[in-house]
Amino acid sequence: MTSKELRKSFLDFFEKKGHKIIKPASLIPNDDKTVLFNVAGMQQFKQYWSLKKDPILDIHPGLNEPLGHTRVTSSQPCIRTIDIDEVGDRGHLTMFEMLGNFAFKGDYFKKEAIDFAYDFITNILKLNWKDIIVTVYKGDDLVPMDQESYDLWKAKGIDEKQIVLGDKEDNFWGPVGSEGPCGPCSEIHFKGLEIWNLVFNQYYKKTDGTLEPLKEVGVDTGAGLERQLLAVNFGDNFDDKTIYETDIFSDQMELLKSKAASYNEKSARIVADHFRASVFLIASQIVPSNVERGYILRRLIRRILRHLKQLGISENLFELMLTNLQNNFGEFYKEIMDTKYILEVLNKEADKFNVTLENGIKELNLIFEKNNKIIDGKTAFYIYETFGFPMELIKEEAINRGLDVNENEFRQEFEKHREISRAGAKNKFGGHNLSSIDENSESFKIRTKLHTATHLLLKALREVLGEDVFQKGSDINDERLRFDFTFNRKMTDDEVKQVENLVNEKINSGLEIQKQEMKTEEALKNGFIGSFMAKYPEIVTTYNIGEWSKEICAGPHVQNTKELGKLEILKEEASSQGVRRIKATCARPQQSHHN
Ligand code: ALA
Repeated sequence: MTSKELRKSFLDFFEKKGHKIIKPASLIPNDDKTVLFNVAGMQQFKQYWSLKKDPILDIHPGLNEPLGHTRVTSSQPCIRTIDIDEVGDRGHLTMFEMLGNFAFKGDYFKKEAIDFAYDFITNILKLNWKDIIVTVYKGDDLVPMDQESYDLWKAKGIDEKQIVLGDKEDNFWGPVGSEGPCGPCSEIHFKGLEIWNLVFNQYYKKTDGTLEPLKEVGVDTGAGLERQLLAVNFGDNFDDKTIYETDIFSDQMELLKSKAASYNEKSARIVADHFRASVFLIASQIVPSNVERGYILRRLIRRILRHLKQLGISENLFELMLTNLQNNFGEFYKEIMDTKYILEVLNKEADKFNVTLENGIKELNLIFEKNNKIIDGKTAFYIYETFGFPMELIKEEAINRGLDVNENEFRQEFEKHREISRAGAKNKFGGHNLSSIDENSESFKIRTKLHTATHLLLKALREVLGEDVFQKGSDINDERLRFDFTFNRKMTDDEVKQVENLVNEKINSGLEIQKQEMKTEEALKNGFIGSFMAKYPEIVTTYNIGEWSKEICAGPHVQNTKELGKLEILKEEASSQGVRRIKATCARPQQSHHN
């Protein structure tokens, strides 16, 4: 069975059982600030078990319409960064695909979930139940043993020796984050590898740690596509095989092998794994940077480059590798088909890394000369952060000179940095700080105008450059507006002019600005755009400028675009990779900046 066939079989199977197939959510969670990436298939549905949202009535933010069903199925790319260092072994991946079936509002529970899983494993995967162990929650002070699941498995004819009782760590799942739905789970292991987890959501865990029984129970399951594929295709000599031999990775592995002057299996696995994750991240509009998600992407790409070097590959393989990936995944995940853009991001980062590498080696040599035994964690982190050197590279260079690196200290520094980036992510999109300025002051008026101009600018940029332009940051003072947006190259002079003219055309046509409050879902459905990655409350304020620009925004704004006078773009420049920056100002009509 190929990965495409398995994915399709799973979704078709559950569709036949009355489930609606839901498209995967973005790798970047839009309604959960507790995690950097989507970590499970259930994440986009979390609100339906908490009973905060109704799957039939409420609009799902990713779909712009309600789910309309109380049972759904999906294949969801997930990233668990905690596993990155394990990558290269048999079963851990940076990104994996989680197949799942889900039930809300008590649609079905343990019996049906176990029936479905049993049916799928028996008739579609055709695995032998003698090779399978199922686990069931053994219970604790608060939650009783899951006797029902135990009996259900037994009724399927599974030998009691193959039904294992497990503790909280393995058999109680959730919540994601500090509160949310959770419950006992039953895992299915094929020859020692977990291939499916059935979670029975029957509690809501509150932030104080207490469990409240859910009024309407539900089901959340997660099956690693890669692992099931391994089981299906290599069940007979399972212990000798890895996911890198399934069709998901085999073409990449062959390519790497054929090009390598000094092949080693582990480096090839890391390259294959990281390449897939990087492409999906780039396709989710992440660009390499030194903070948050961009930092993870940068680290992945740099590790790819590092391991390509170890393999003795100097040829640029990105295009060939991308083609392989697209052949496997492009049909289902259309967003990875933007070849030009994806290669541009990868190649740009590679070029940057090569320059950095040279500078970094020089700096390292200076540091090494000053130390005669051990490089402390702070210094190692400085090298890591400034030059993007992976730890193993720093270590290798150190060892070559008879030195060692304090890795524990380095990790502490790393964690500290990560916390800081996360905190930063929360504060970044809070709008423009006008609250501390007197509403009647000249400064307030100027800034309000520039704020409205910012909205016009975003809309004009999207018109001229395309819908991939999103707001990345914005800053306004008395002199100018500064606007950062996602776009991967320098704008031409002509494009800058077009944007400026378009904004001025809208200013001159005297568009009215309207403010409205509405539910976030409604706003998104009606085409109001928000800033990249923002987290919104249930009710948001929206502004539309005529029928032209529509944004979710806290304000304030002018009443009519005529008040802006004339927009002048002062500068277009790079902000960070994949992000451009425009500085612009508003002048009164007939009073341009140059006179
Ligand atoms: N949400 C469950 C998991 O991630 C299925 O294992």
